[in-house]
Amino acid sequence: KIEACIFDLDGVIVDTAVYHYEAWKRLANQMGFDFTEHQNEQLKGVSRMASLELILGWGNITNKTEAEKQELATLKNNWYTEMIGRMTPAEILPGARQFVQACRDAGLKTAIGSASKNTPIILNKLELTHLFDAIIDGNCVSTPKPDPEVFLKGAQQLGVSPSACVVFEDAIAGIEAAISGDMKTVGIGSPKMLTRADMVVSGLDKMSLNMLEEL
Ligand code: G6P
Ligand code: MG
Repeated sequence: KIEACIFDLDGVIVDTAVYHYEAWKRLANQMGFDFTEHQNEQLKGVSRMASLELILGWGNITNKTEAEKQELATLKNNWYTEMIGRMTPAEILPGARQFVQACRDAGLKTAIGSASKNTPIILNKLELTHLFDAIIDGNCVSTPKPDPEVFLKGAQQLGVSPSACVVFEDAIAGIEAAISGDMKTVGIGSPKMLTRADMVVSGLDKMSLNMLEEL
């Protein structure tokens, strides 16, 4: 029986991928190369530093020191936070607020489990912070998805056993993390991509409490 819903943030509650893409693209362009929206798909759910490593690889850039990499990541994050600072609740993905509220009204616990260190700012801009009983983000975990740490910490903070949790995720690494944590999974996106999820819907606007019974 499901007692808690744990939501990934980027791509599930809000589409920040466009802003990540714009900021990473600007960084790549500044270094003299470009990458496609298709390549950008591979960055979903991937931590900031791991994303930078992938992008440097695409540009065949191999001469950066650790300190220079930190600087590049900071530069990108400054551009990114400038953009998300202008976000409003209008950018919440269709049905997301309503579904989280419906979960709460039904007595289920709710949490965020995200790799993003910017989670607190984003939830604040979207005016959603109060809808979550626990918020586990990139500032609280030491091992990124597909490691289950972020979701296990969420379950622990909620006081719910992992097998009574369902995780909503748009990234393959996130679905894998939830499976390793012995949780149920709902993929947000395409069933062709998220083959290991228990169920896949195109967005939270297509989700209902009744569907949780099928898990
Ligand atoms: C999410 C996004 C990734 C992003 C990561 C870290 O998982 O899908 O694209 O790289 O968070 O975000 P941050 O805000 O900490 O740079
Ligand atoms: Mg995501």
